[in-house]
Amino acid sequence: MLDLKGKVAFVTGAGAIGAGWGNGKATAVLLARQGAKVFGTDINPAAVEETRAIIAKEGGVCFTTTCDMTDSDSVKKSVDACLEHFGRIDILINNVGGSAPGDPVSMSEEVWDRQLDHNLKTAFLGCKHVLPVMEKQGSGAIVNISSVAGFAHQVDGRVHVAYSTAKSGLVGFTRSTAMAYVKKGIRCNLVIVGTMHTPLVEERLVKQLGPEAGANLVAKRHAAVPIGRMGDAWDTAHAVLFLASDEARYITATHLVVDGGLTAARPG
Ligand SMILES: NC(=O)c1ccc[n+]([C@@H]2O[C@H](COP(=O)([O-])OP(=O)(O)OC[C@H]3O[C@@H](n4cnc5c(N)ncnc54)[C@H](O)[C@@H]3O)[C@@H](O)[C@H]2O)c1
Repeated sequence: MLDLKGKVAFVTGAGAIGAGWGNGKATAVLLARQGAKVFGTDINPAAVEETRAIIAKEGGVCFTTTCDMTDSDSVKKSVDACLEHFGRIDILINNVGGSAPGDPVSMSEEVWDRQLDHNLKTAFLGCKHVLPVMEKQGSGAIVNISSVAGFAHQVDGRVHVAYSTAKSGLVGFTRSTAMAYVKKGIRCNLVIVGTMHTPLVEERLVKQLGPEAGANLVAKRHAAVPIGRMGDAWDTAHAVLFLASDEARYITATHLVVDGGLTAARPG
């Protein structure tokens, strides 16, 4: 079940912003545990090196590059390096993303543009450079990473209008890409991630707010989820693994919500 032996997985944002497991890092390690050769890219070389070292220590295979997924040349170089190293790409995980606060008035145009690049263009460029490889092979599976923030107001009341826009935009991007390549043996799906307790929460939110307000926010986030707690990066990774695997061979142009019931409990 969910055996990825013989497959090569290209994972973007394969490091994590701080200590512990981010979605891309857990996904890279899980795919390697299932037998895939992992090609991890990240803008932060130290972060992706940590992921590589974990995979190597567990006896898996991982090669990495430093890559800015908002930059087409940089993405192409990484795809070329992956082909040079492993000769093929079977799985593409478009994981890069992150939020910046602001509503249409308070957010500067620069932040808006950067947010759309960070959360939407990264997936576009991943597909732009990997799809021709998959098309030549006649097979491939792509999983994009979205957020419930694209579908419902945040439990803590924070507004990040560009992030929400980009993350809901990934639905259209995923469906449209899936349909463009459905006859070519390539599947494209989306994982919509809920409020997860990843290093991002500790590194960004808790540090931004201070220890007391940070702890309150974490408690509020746990309590808001119908299952009773936030998920973690492994919950994301297991959903990604399923959609990337051959067991999901009849599944394309759709999404899997991994949110402990969060979006079902509130108007989406
Ligand atoms: N953590 C959550 O609670 C949560 C919830 C919903 C969705 N998500 C989504 O999951 C994805 C990953 O989130 P995470 O929490 O694991 O984040 P993370 O910040 O821990 O990891 C992302 C990695 O991407 C790298 N990165 C950033 N910009 C890059 C670029 N331009 N090119 C290449 N690499 C780059 C970072 O260096 C980092 O190592 C994002 O798309 C995020 O929106 C996260």
